[in-house]
Amino acid sequence: MDKDILDDMLGDIIDTKPIMTKPIDKPITTKEKEIKMENIEIKMEAKEVKSEVIKIEDNKFLPGVSVDVGTSFICSTRYTEDGKFINKFHRNSLYALDINEESADLLERSNYLYIKTENKYYVIGNDAISLVNALGKGEIIRPMKNGLLNESIRESENLLFNVIKCVVGNPIVPRENLRYTVPASPIDKDVNNLFHQNVLNNLFEKMGYAAKPVNEAMCVIFNCNPIMKSEDGDVPFTGIGISFGAGMANVVLTYKGMSLVEFSCTKSGDNIDEQVEKVTGMSKGKIIKIKEKKLNLNKIDDNDRVQSALSVYYDETIDRIVKNIENKFKNVGSEIDGEIEIVVSGGTAKVPGFDKRLEASIRNSSIPFKIYRVRMADDIFFAVSNGANVRAQSDYKKSLK
Ligand SMILES: Nc1ncnc2c1ncn2[C@@H]1O[C@H](COP(=O)(O)OP(=O)(O)O)[C@@H](O)[C@H]1O
Ligand SMILES: [Mg+2]
Repeated sequence: MDKDILDDMLGDIIDTKPIMTKPIDKPITTKEKEIKMENIEIKMEAKEVKSEVIKIEDNKFLPGVSVDVGTSFICSTRYTEDGKFINKFHRNSLYALDINEESADLLERSNYLYIKTENKYYVIGNDAISLVNALGKGEIIRPMKNGLLNESIRESENLLFNVIKCVVGNPIVPRENLRYTVPASPIDKDVNNLFHQNVLNNLFEKMGYAAKPVNEAMCVIFNCNPIMKSEDGDVPFTGIGISFGAGMANVVLTYKGMSLVEFSCTKSGDNIDEQVEKVTGMSKGKIIKIKEKKLNLNKIDDNDRVQSALSVYYDETIDRIVKNIENKFKNVGSEIDGEIEIVVSGGTAKVPGFDKRLEASIRNSSIPFKIYRVRMADDIFFAVSNGANVRAQSDYKKSLK
């Protein structure tokens, strides 16, 4: 292993802490992992948040925080002194209510987290989905689309800022190091991620962090440490990392922790929902519920139209992304001469049976490398955020030198 390169890349952390992570020791249910905080009342332009984010009191955190800024979920990770990753997340969705007595009553009766602007209330997170399903009217607002800021919504920057603020909270030391994830530029859409990155950077700096971007797929590599088996022995951090998110899938090929080729594709989990909505006529909210709670790609009920359609569009997504990997990696030089591992994360990969379908598609492809294994991240949903946290801690250690 070329330790100098890795040390330079990751700092001391690589020597002292295992990169492969286990899910949090203390079992925390999903519900509890989601942040609970009192409702905040913010005027769009106002800087002040009246009540602040909760602290997880039992843990002492090491400085260095990460934020996985996804189309569908905002996740953040801190690392405890006794070596655990602690995650928080919120669904990156809002539901707008007009400001009137009826809405005010509803908000008072519920414990929804919401933002108040000059002319709207915005209910944040999973509650937004519950509300749109319950009321059966209106629609979910997404501050991000296809992995980047949603340009079609005027307030997207402010809304995103408030969702992120709910998840991340304040720095625990002055100018605490923070890493936020950014996608690579997409191969199937003519957009550049620079503006998005700039907006996020300003936002975190405004919150008091020393912020730096990190490529989303690289985070999967840092978290999972894919190994290449070669004649000279095992080579760490060498292989392919894929994150199957909502708006995008992000892919990287690495050699000893260095990115050789990286790209994103804009159609992933959201596109599956959209296509299934088109062919079944069922609302997206309901489709998402079935996909996340019931779907098992090993056991599709062929009499169920939604499950059948989900199965078809899962295959389409997997095959399309594998085809892109094949095309994009065809011209890579010969440094990769061993057998590599592919490591996988992301909410879209969470559904049971995803691994088998991905592996079959890869075996059928002409990806120009020998692949000995496809490995799902231990904590599929938080692998990206945990991987980014490794970098944030490394930044902090470097800042002390
Ligand atoms: N248990 C699950 N089964 C299937 N899909 C899921 C599950 N949980 C989340 N998802 C889907 O994963 C996607 C979100 O994954 P995530 O990695 O957080 O993406 P992003 O970072 O782009 O927000 C969404 O499309 C969501 O519906
Ligand atoms: Mg994500």
